[in-house]
Amino acid sequence: MQVHHTIDGFRKALDAERGEGRVVGLVPTMGYLHDGHASLMRRAREECDVVAATIFVNPLQFGATEDLSTYPRDLEGDSQLASSCGVDHLFAPEEVEMYPSGRDGVLTNVHVGGPSEGLEGASRPAHFDGVATVVAKLLNIAGACRAYFGEKDWQQLLVVRRLVHDLSFAVDVVGCPIVREGDGLAMSSRNVHLSAEQRTAATVLHRALLAGRSAAATGDPESAMRRVVALEPLAVLEYAAVRDGRLLIAARFGSTRLIDNLEI
Ligand code: PAJ
Repeated sequence: MQVHHTIDGFRKALDAERGEGRVVGLVPTMGYLHDGHASLMRRAREECDVVAATIFVNPLQFGATEDLSTYPRDLEGDSQLASSCGVDHLFAPEEVEMYPSGRDGVLTNVHVGGPSEGLEGASRPAHFDGVATVVAKLLNIAGACRAYFGEKDWQQLLVVRRLVHDLSFAVDVVGCPIVREGDGLAMSSRNVHLSAEQRTAATVLHRALLAGRSAAATGDPESAMRRVVALEPLAVLEYAAVRDGRLLIAARFGSTRLIDNLEI
């Protein structure tokens, strides 16, 4: 596995791979990799000739009061996991490489209307602009590829699909199913911040989604989800909603904010 720290080095490496006729699979991440990320890398490995992954904790997508400074990082462990999943090129730039004028010096902002609005977009103003801006930049650097994104971040997946469509990137976006722990908790880099009690409480998200799905046929899935979360004292619900045949939920456990979703 080759590790790249510069935009130019990563871009030239993928250009060379395409020059040899190879199809590139791309997996953008913020690192602290877990089995959810690994599932994307393995899928790319199966479907593409060459696999590239990116690790960059993008400051643009964190609000002023959010967890940028405490977001977990482990480039050493991430490199080993990426390599074991068959990643050929790992792009791990420093912030100054991505934003040479500083994060406040970025004057081009990508806003995707529609899917950015409501739910996560309402709870986290400017979050999806930060995501869309860095994803546009990463796709522009990587070039033509198949790009793998998880359904875990359902609204993000819709934002990325729309971005690629509207700006005509030479990219096929591939959505991948949510990977869960044995007790149903969706894997997330943020789970590491949960105390033992919060970790147990966090299973309420998946239980609420299952109750919502059961209620969908006959009753009111939003109320069913709310009732389940109300029984868990450590969970503070942000939203429980139904959109386009999918249940979406967000809650805080102490200072850790988690999201999950399920198809009805
Ligand atoms: P990150 O949270 O590191 O997630 C990287 C990718 O892994 C995303 O596509 C996400 O949906 C997927 N993923 C995370 N947990 C998953 C799980 N349990 N099952 C399946 N897929 C999972 O999402 C981001 O980073 C950033 O916003 C990024 C797109 C990289 C832009 O900065």
